[in-house]
Amino acid sequence: MKRVGIVGSGKVGCSAALFLLPQVDEIILYDIVPSLPMGEALDLQNAADALDLSTEVKGTNDISLLKGLDVVIVTAGFGRTADMSRMDLLNKNLPIIEGIAKEYATDKNGETLFIIVTNPVDVLTYVFWKKSGVERQRVAGLSGVLDTSRLKTILRIEKKIKLKDTSLFVLGEHGDNMIIPKEKLQKKYGLSNAELESIREQTTKAAARIIGMKGATVYGPGAAIARMVKAILADKGEVLPASAVLDGEYGIRDVCIGVPVRVGRKGFKVVEEKLSDEEVFMLKKAAESIVIVLEQIGYRK
Ligand code: LAC
Repeated sequence: MKRVGIVGSGKVGCSAALFLLPQVDEIILYDIVPSLPMGEALDLQNAADALDLSTEVKGTNDISLLKGLDVVIVTAGFGRTADMSRMDLLNKNLPIIEGIAKEYATDKNGETLFIIVTNPVDVLTYVFWKKSGVERQRVAGLSGVLDTSRLKTILRIEKKIKLKDTSLFVLGEHGDNMIIPKEKLQKKYGLSNAELESIREQTTKAAARIIGMKGATVYGPGAAIARMVKAILADKGEVLPASAVLDGEYGIRDVCIGVPVRVGRKGFKVVEEKLSDEEVFMLKKAAESIVIVLEQIGYRK
């Protein structure tokens, strides 16, 4: 049985559920809003039955039912408007993530893996890890899979390049300090520095652009979550980019930032790939910017 829980039955949570229908046996949607997760679950159950899938979808206002699952995806919290950065969501979303993490503090030695989606994701993945006390390998934040999909979209539309190379990852912060694989793109497609800088800028602003047009990002994040869950459940040790707790890898410690991770049932293991000097510099800069925020909210001294 493959069982997945989704904390927060907003648009991103439900979009993830939709993409997960063909991949899992059971999805439990949780939200604090009365009746909403039950309504979404019924609608999604109709979708599963329309597709003749045997997946069961349940909705609940009781988070204690989301225990002992294979994966729990945390999407609860506020989204941003086009004029906000992800970091602007910190004050509102911090207590929400702390509250959810406390629910899992009794699950320290469990086997459930957690994917944190709530923004600012690099900060809140760390907060979730600290507050829940679960092993670091069991927690990762959604970042690079989604950001890499945006890089692919930009290359497709702007440069008519269909990026098939599955080892090209966007790393760093899920925010302004995002790192695109410039050197590899340069070598492979002969793009100029100016072109690469423009692509980096657009990748960084890709979500804000969509939010400006339709109010929220929905399908990109939903599919990226499902992609991570697929790698977990397949348990083949696939390497994907995600925000992970670093413990000395890349010379960075005690902070979450986007790096390549080996994904499987046992969790997320940071992979130290050979990065260019510029990428390592940028990764450290991104990590430092997250550390400053963690210090401000009292999570690091
Ligand atoms: C995005 C949100 C999920 O980038 O951070 O769409």
